[in-house]
Amino acid sequence: MDRIRIEGGRALKGTIRVGGAKNAALPLMAASLLTDETLALANVPRAGDIATMAGLLGELGVRIDGDAGAGPDCGSLRLGAGALTATTAPYDLVRKMRASVLVLGPLLARHGHARVSLPGGCAIGTRPVDLHLEALAQLGAEIELDEGYIEARAPNGLKGAHVVFPVATVGGTENLLMAAVLAKGETVLANAAREPEVSDLARCLCAMGALIDGIGTDTLRIQGADRLHGARHAVIADRIETASYAVAAAITGGELAIEGAALEHIEAVADVLAKAGVRVTASEGGIAVAGGDNRLRGVDVMTEPFPGFPTDMQAQIMALMALADGASMITETIFENRFMHVPELNRMGANINVHGASAIVRGVPGLSGAQVMATDLRASFSLVLAGLAAEGETVVNRVYHLDRGYERLEEKLTGCGAVIERIRD
Ligand code: EPZ
Repeated sequence: MDRIRIEGGRALKGTIRVGGAKNAALPLMAASLLTDETLALANVPRAGDIATMAGLLGELGVRIDGDAGAGPDCGSLRLGAGALTATTAPYDLVRKMRASVLVLGPLLARHGHARVSLPGGCAIGTRPVDLHLEALAQLGAEIELDEGYIEARAPNGLKGAHVVFPVATVGGTENLLMAAVLAKGETVLANAAREPEVSDLARCLCAMGALIDGIGTDTLRIQGADRLHGARHAVIADRIETASYAVAAAITGGELAIEGAALEHIEAVADVLAKAGVRVTASEGGIAVAGGDNRLRGVDVMTEPFPGFPTDMQAQIMALMALADGASMITETIFENRFMHVPELNRMGANINVHGASAIVRGVPGLSGAQVMATDLRASFSLVLAGLAAEGETVVNRVYHLDRGYERLEEKLTGCGAVIERIRD
């Protein structure tokens, strides 16, 4: 298993270009199941999860051409679901990547059948899919659980309905959007997730011929169509990658220009950074982040659905707060077990105590390099951040977590003065 070795203590300076959003590209790829024409996606990141989704779609019979697997920059994919050969998402793929469950809505809507393995729990929480299933049942799907699989049928097609999500769910909203665009009549999704990735999917569905009102709000109104057609769509920039590099500038006292970034998608993070003493400004074609020479201040943070502070940035902001002046309280409200990075940060000299859903971070003047490992993608990045700021050498194990969602991480950081390398085993 590859590892990443970092020599800390260098201020980052330079330019980093962010790629397309992994969490937008995954549902967009699943949307290709809704039409027999070609869906051409541009700005697809070269991340491990994208390859996993491509593998799953390939097993279902989707033809995929493109260059998202090779070369330095974000790639393009052409997906053609003209002749599907299967409607089952097997356990091995769903276990590897929970976003596999996103094929459920489109398969059911277009083919009247889907068999998708139940994902089970994961490192950051139990993460059930009950809300996806309840909402699909409201659209008339017959759903049974059978030997660890979701067996969903709609032999006479889905019918529009008024769905109120009891909790805003990103994947649930995406699955339902993809089901509703081919249902008969109108569907209303209330308390829908407003994450930019949901809006990106909705815009692509509109380009495919769907009629969706309320994009970007918590109420989506969809008029079902008989069929959708092919389209071209460019994936939005990755706001979590953007914000992760913004914290990299801040934690090293450096200055980064982050090209391709959209400030309006990271406002909650920019706000916390500003309170801590970091300058984040819009610039031509992206954002500029300046950490400054003074020690940063501790800020309380609570994760919330968009436009609140994203849970996918909680681990990274904690690494920053670990070095800030004073204490900060970081509260995780989305996932119940997303503090696995805490013991690892503490091994590097941080002073963090977890009390239920909150972590009290008492800032320390410095961290020291260590051997660390993490159990999920964002936690791994927080250890990279801690390593960039720490004195001495840090080795982050289980790099495959990082490879699932950050493309060319070492290259991007090396280009800005970091001393970081991959050790291949
Ligand atoms: C998406 O996961 C992202 N994944 C996650 O990114 C992200 O952390 C999360 O949204 C929250 O922003 C992708 O987009 C592929 P949810 P998702 O449904 O859709 C509960 C990363 O690091 N819930 O919005 O699975 C659930 O347990 C990842 O890139 C139910 O109870 O998240 C959680 O507590 C990790 N029942 C909350 O809702 C359901 O049926 C929000 O989850 C569905 C969700």
